[in-house]
Amino acid sequence: MKVTVVGAGAVGASCAEYIAMKNFCSEVVLVDIKEGFAEGKAMDLMQTAPLNGFDTKIKGTTGDYSKTAGSKVAVITSGIPRKPGMTREELIGINAGIVKEVTENLVKHSPEVIIIVVSNPMDTMAYLVHKTSGLPKERIIGMGGALDSARFKYRLAEALDCPISDVEGMVIAAHSDTGMVPLISKATRNGVPVTEFLDAEKIAYVTEETKVGGATLTKLLGTSAWYAPGAAVSTLVQSIVCDQKKMIPCSLMLDGEYGQSDICLGVPAIIGKNGVEKIVEIQLTDEEKAKFEAAAKAVKEVNSDLKF
Ligand code: 2OP
Repeated sequence: MKVTVVGAGAVGASCAEYIAMKNFCSEVVLVDIKEGFAEGKAMDLMQTAPLNGFDTKIKGTTGDYSKTAGSKVAVITSGIPRKPGMTREELIGINAGIVKEVTENLVKHSPEVIIIVVSNPMDTMAYLVHKTSGLPKERIIGMGGALDSARFKYRLAEALDCPISDVEGMVIAAHSDTGMVPLISKATRNGVPVTEFLDAEKIAYVTEETKVGGATLTKLLGTSAWYAPGAAVSTLVQSIVCDQKKMIPCSLMLDGEYGQSDICLGVPAIIGKNGVEKIVEIQLTDEEKAKFEAAAKAVKEVNSDLKF
């Protein structure tokens, strides 16, 4: 089975590496517009195969989308990343045009493809792909919640001083510094609500650090993060390719769910061979509902800047 990753920058190359290392698909095609860049990244990654023990074939191409033909899944990471101090929303002008063109190229060669959108502002880019691709909505998945939930679990384990494997937690709503909603009410340490271990101050700290997790790293790194985004993408791709039916928060086109329509926002969903098998509507506290609605309002405003 073939998986395409468009954009051979740090995020795209990490996606390709983690997908290959998990050894669940036969081929990963890495695409970039910079002459020789994707080919070089693919070759470098293939030379880790004897050391890291995977059989996945990673191939690179400079803009030749015929090499992506027949892809089951395609990941769009192309576009410019944030610089320190930038919001994801400031990228829309440049990234919207890139994401639209990439989507058209992908669908032309793989009409059955399931698209995973990573490029920022991700909720708006996912919305753009829905409006321009003509794909059924269950085959367009925005990757944000998987990454934000990983950062949430990291912060919870830090605050609880416990192994990350003891922690469960989910982040929904927008993949933005202000619009994320970490679901404290549902977070647990080995099945026990984290509210039984953490006071209000610690909970506020974990919530706020989760929301700015991307910006914190951009400040430290001088550009967007890539390891955790790449790992989050690989989890989504594996749930599709292996039909695992994992429940993962993803930015999906809503049609009444959570009281929202004609918008892509992060909600829990069952992810399998068809892409989005089912959106899961869970009970939210009044506070979580209010934050979800505020996030929706902010994303709709960013969406209104799109020119189709
Ligand atoms: C992040 O939060 C790149 O938006 C991505 O790191």
